[in-house]
Amino acid sequence: DSIEKGGYEHFMLKEIFEQPRSILDSMRGRLELEAGHLNMGGIRAYERKFANAERILIVACGTSWHAGLVAEYLIEDLARVPVEVEYASEFRYRNPIITERDIVIAISQSGETADTLAAIDLAKSKGATIFGICNVVGSSIARATDAGAYTHAGPEIGVASTKAFTAQVTVLTLLAMIVGHQRGTLSDTKLRELMMELSNIPSKVEKALLLDAEIKQIAEIFKDSTNFLYLGRGYNFPVALEGALKLKEISYIHAEGYPAAEMKHGPIALIDENMPVVVIATKDSSYEKVVSNIQEVKARKGRIIAVVTEGDDVIPGMAEFVIEVPATSEALMPLVSVVPLQLLSYHIAVLRGCNVDQPRNLAKSVTVE
Ligand code: AGP
Repeated sequence: DSIEKGGYEHFMLKEIFEQPRSILDSMRGRLELEAGHLNMGGIRAYERKFANAERILIVACGTSWHAGLVAEYLIEDLARVPVEVEYASEFRYRNPIITERDIVIAISQSGETADTLAAIDLAKSKGATIFGICNVVGSSIARATDAGAYTHAGPEIGVASTKAFTAQVTVLTLLAMIVGHQRGTLSDTKLRELMMELSNIPSKVEKALLLDAEIKQIAEIFKDSTNFLYLGRGYNFPVALEGALKLKEISYIHAEGYPAAEMKHGPIALIDENMPVVVIATKDSSYEKVVSNIQEVKARKGRIIAVVTEGDDVIPGMAEFVIEVPATSEALMPLVSVVPLQLLSYHIAVLRGCNVDQPRNLAKSVTVE
């Protein structure tokens, strides 16, 4: 057991620390920096279809759905194709509008999630093209799709998904770049820049992992909290959802992820001196607005834990705790900003004596409805 865990106390921690490697593996053979070339075997035969797509639907559950939400930002931003992200369990029962011109992307770590499989069957029966993004080779979803790309993150044992999420986001980033370039919405220069930056992500994640000891200290302080709020905007909104889900799953603390600006439409009522608020406030196009959201939390005495870009000199004066991550392009930030949130939930759960790798009531893959 301890050999399998590679010296780590839990599989989850091992998998969090594997991310520089697993992200690299998910790009291997796909991002050829020197040649200035992107490759994804799975979409080659469907390049035309993607290039002419009028709409892309994404179906998934849980953490994979969060990766889908990141993809909505990526694909709309880089490739200018309208994207709808759907919970597979809702999609399959609500008589959705699907046409032969649609491309449906199904995302699943295990490739065995019953609702995602049923959503694929439905979309297939309406003639849509199905593209799968799975981690487990030869899984039911991988076999049910027309084409796809494996994430190559390696086996994920911890029930709480970590490295599979970042691998999914990496593959979806590559896909958005390829489709954007084909459609002419992503220039050669911008493509080149993003390729360069994507190739730097493993070392930036490596750097983010150095925050482990610091995050453990923050976990000590908040381990007995009964609620958490996670806020983010733009690309960091799905990261807020993912941070909250991780905490709920393994520490059994109630947590909610919210788009920061939506806070004033409800959750702000919850904020008092007992409410930890994790704000992902990296330097991007919504930075100034997130800073105002932090001020709103502070005015209500919420306890702010902010994930910021290295060198930020504004937020440290406002937040109680600041976690600095390396700078990267706005579109790639989820790959970096999610890491401290994974570590925070891990340490809180361990300090509370929870079974981190096999949390109560949860299964690694949900193969029944
Ligand atoms: C993630 O931490 C969860 N355990 C869960 O939400 C999971 O992402 C979901 O069940 C989907 O699983 P899949 O990716 O294997 O389809």
